[in-house]
Amino acid sequence: MSSRSLPLAGFFALLATGALAQAPKFGSPASEADIAAWNIEISPDGAGLPPGAGTVAGGEKVFVEKCQACHGEKGAGKPNDQLAGGFGTLARPDQPAVKTVGSFWPYATTLFDYTRRAMPWTAPKSLTDSEVYAVSAYILNLNGIVPADAVMDAKSLPKVAMPNREGFSPFPRSAR
Ligand code: HEC
Repeated sequence: MSSRSLPLAGFFALLATGALAQAPKFGSPASEADIAAWNIEISPDGAGLPPGAGTVAGGEKVFVEKCQACHGEKGAGKPNDQLAGGFGTLARPDQPAVKTVGSFWPYATTLFDYTRRAMPWTAPKSLTDSEVYAVSAYILNLNGIVPADAVMDAKSLPKVAMPNREGFSPFPRSAR
């Protein structure tokens, strides 16, 4: 008998003795707090955005410290995704589409959600909510979408009009 089949043999032995039926249940019910820590999605309309606020200037600090090494100065990209620019490249078959937050993303609220759950790549969920608002403000400003004195919070972020908002069609279309 190979060593790989040993665990399986053990499983059948358990079945045979009926021990499996009496085995304690693994884990325990997730508490409200356990669930809240993971239940962090933000809707396109901003539902779920937490308290906190951040400025473009504050976001620049966060960006230089925690994002620039991968996303380049002012979000120009390299080694990882370009976060700014690329406008006018999506509908041109003669050149590759440069999809950035500014040229492609339909909702500013997604920037908050994505950054909070996934960035920085090496330390996701390490930013405070206000840092996420701030770095979102900075990236939107780099794209010329909000002014340099913009303050992003749960009220202002959903109101940001993204340039490619109409570039997406809801599916199914009749749902609109
Ligand atoms: C260690 C490298 C690294 C760091 C640091 C980092 N990122 Fe990223 N980022 C990535 C990678 C890799 C991707 C692509 C992930 C994928 O496609 O799944 C990405 C993707 C993104 C995207 C999506 C881009 C798109 O259009 O698809 C955004 C927005 C973003 N990062 C923001 C940030 C912000 C804000 C910070 C700083 C708080 C940050 N990142 C720090 C590596 C990094």
